[in-house]
Amino acid sequence: MDLWLVGTSSHGILTIWRDFDSVGGFREFEILDQFNTVLLEESFSILYHTTKTQKTWGFRSDSLIMSKLMPLPEDIPFFLAPFLPTSSSSLTPKRPFTTLTYAQSLDSRIAASPGQRTSISHLETKTMTHYLRSKHDGILIGSGTVLADDPGLNCRYTENGESHGIRPIILDPSIKWDYKGSKLEQLVQKGEGLPPWIITREVGSDELSEAALERQEYLKKHGGKFLHVISQKDGTLKWSDVLNKLSEEGIRSVMIEGGAKIINDLLANSEELVDSVIITIGPVFLGSQGVQVSPSSEVRMKDVAWWSGIQDSVVCGRLS
Ligand SMILES: NC(=O)c1ccc[n+]([C@@H]2O[C@H](COP(=O)([O-])OP(=O)(O)OC[C@H]3O[C@@H](n4cnc5c(N)ncnc54)[C@H](OP(=O)(O)O)[C@@H]3O)[C@@H](O)[C@H]2O)c1
Repeated sequence: MDLWLVGTSSHGILTIWRDFDSVGGFREFEILDQFNTVLLEESFSILYHTTKTQKTWGFRSDSLIMSKLMPLPEDIPFFLAPFLPTSSSSLTPKRPFTTLTYAQSLDSRIAASPGQRTSISHLETKTMTHYLRSKHDGILIGSGTVLADDPGLNCRYTENGESHGIRPIILDPSIKWDYKGSKLEQLVQKGEGLPPWIITREVGSDELSEAALERQEYLKKHGGKFLHVISQKDGTLKWSDVLNKLSEEGIRSVMIEGGAKIINDLLANSEELVDSVIITIGPVFLGSQGVQVSPSSEVRMKDVAWWSGIQDSVVCGRLS
């Protein structure tokens, strides 16, 4: 369990510190993010702690804590516009407008180790991600990510007070993930997210484990849906079939957010399926044990544009 500390500064800015020890002791800290004081007090369930030098508060990162977003930098919508779906892109036959997007370290890692939830991006670019979500119908991740991160998969960016419901879509061919008790389920119960759709391979119920059948039953009862796609001989699903299925279900635009297997696969093989690539780069090296994005062969981007913010840079482009 990670424990995080929040320390005050004198300028109305709170700094989030991460305790590497994770169990207690508060020995080593790393600045992760800075928040406006007012936003932070509204956003977190603050637990405790006073040190000799400054008043600090701690909170558990595994509880249902969602930080408020920052105001979106004014130039971001203009910067992203050429890479976003438009009303005419929804007319693309057979598949939705597809955006591949993720955050990576300077050494091309998207997590510090398999299964370790890792903060790479600044609140500013997290806000950008929620803005991106507000422009898409669906957000797709793989089973590896949902099992490792227990993500919220909702859209917290609001425009003129209006929130946008984005459909969480999980590529989980063997139904390994349990919706029951997940962060996503808690958000849905609070009216802050939509029940997920699960993409599975088309198999008879006798081919699924007892546990998978139970998970399937539970999710169906609670508003979720299963989309079945015929698998190839090796058991994998063709991306064109997956996207085609989403299109049939009315998804006109989808953000694919990872993880590594999915990103590497799409970068290497699917330039005709991916319309935009939007990568946030955070100023951190996560090291050789990290989960790496590196497609099996060379891939170049074209129509490239860069943006730099408080801490991160963002590169947008198309696959050539
Ligand atoms: N920094 C970021 O922006 C970011 C974003 C997302 C994730 N991540 C990190 O990425 C890591 C997870 O990456 P990962 O590579 O382990 O998992 P992943 O890419 O999320 O999921 C991989 C799994 O998805 C299924 N899958 C993928 N492609 C498929 C296909 N064509 N056909 C059928 N099934 C397919 C398979 O599931 P089965 O094994 O069940 O068959 C596969 O094992 C986590 O540590 C997470 O934190 C980082």
